[in-house]
Amino acid sequence: MDAFTDIRLDGVSYAFGTHTVLNQIDLHIPAGAVVALLGPSGCGKSTLLRLLAGLAQPLLGTITFGNRLVAKAGWALPPESRDIGMVFQDYALWPHMTVEDNVAFPLKMRNVPRAQRETRVAAALERVGLGEFAKRKPSGLSGGQQQRVALARAIVAEPRVLLFDEPLSNLDSELRESLCRDMAVLLRQLGITAVYVTHDRGEAGIIADRIVHLSAGRVDAIRSVTSSSGEIA
Ligand SMILES: Nc1ncnc2c1ncn2[C@@H]1O[C@H](COP(=O)(O)OP(=O)(O)OP(=O)(O)O)[C@@H](O)[C@H]1O
Ligand SMILES: [Mg+2]
Repeated sequence: MDAFTDIRLDGVSYAFGTHTVLNQIDLHIPAGAVVALLGPSGCGKSTLLRLLAGLAQPLLGTITFGNRLVAKAGWALPPESRDIGMVFQDYALWPHMTVEDNVAFPLKMRNVPRAQRETRVAAALERVGLGEFAKRKPSGLSGGQQQRVALARAIVAEPRVLLFDEPLSNLDSELRESLCRDMAVLLRQLGITAVYVTHDRGEAGIIADRIVHLSAGRVDAIRSVTSSSGEIA
């Protein structure tokens, strides 16, 4: 399997009952690109991300990661078989586990031996600037630190695809911008294909190489971000 992968959606539609939420989405995300999905509340951003994660099945169309079909009408490869990392708005850390055990979890699921696990967890925590916090419980961390733990957990197994759903929405604006810049640097270093859902244009401009505007379940426009200052072409 390739280390990094492109993502292709062909004619992807999704509906809740009679309510069409995504309407024939065609989208190609090149390997290693960081794409922001931007659009107003209710336009289908989280639904599209859930389809990429394997948490929902398309009604129509196909999704491929590299040359691997991961979803088609009525079928979806489950999340644990997709080699993805995910970060959500609410961190979704296990409160009873220490920081290092939270981060180690994806490696345990993949049966990585303990010694290798410890090295990789330590490296992931260093990457997100939390090397000293390994033994703490999430309740002993700030919101920004908890989200860094979730980020370390998402990258520790070196997935092919990273998916983010409004990961900074619970943080205050100053912290949001600094963590967004840190994540942008980290994503460039890792080179992993990433899809980042947000309704914040500023965040999208900082994090992404290109911005996909969704509107009422359709791709409205795709724009390249032309400079590190977040200017949109
Ligand atoms: N479980 C559900 N049952 C029925 N309709 C749903 C369900 N979840 C979402 N929807 C509807 O699907 C549409 C798209 O929802 P989605 O969560 O993808 O939007 P979003 O772009 O992520 O919005 P937000 O920015 O508020 O998170 C909305 O109209 C929403 O009301
Ligand atoms: Mg959403």
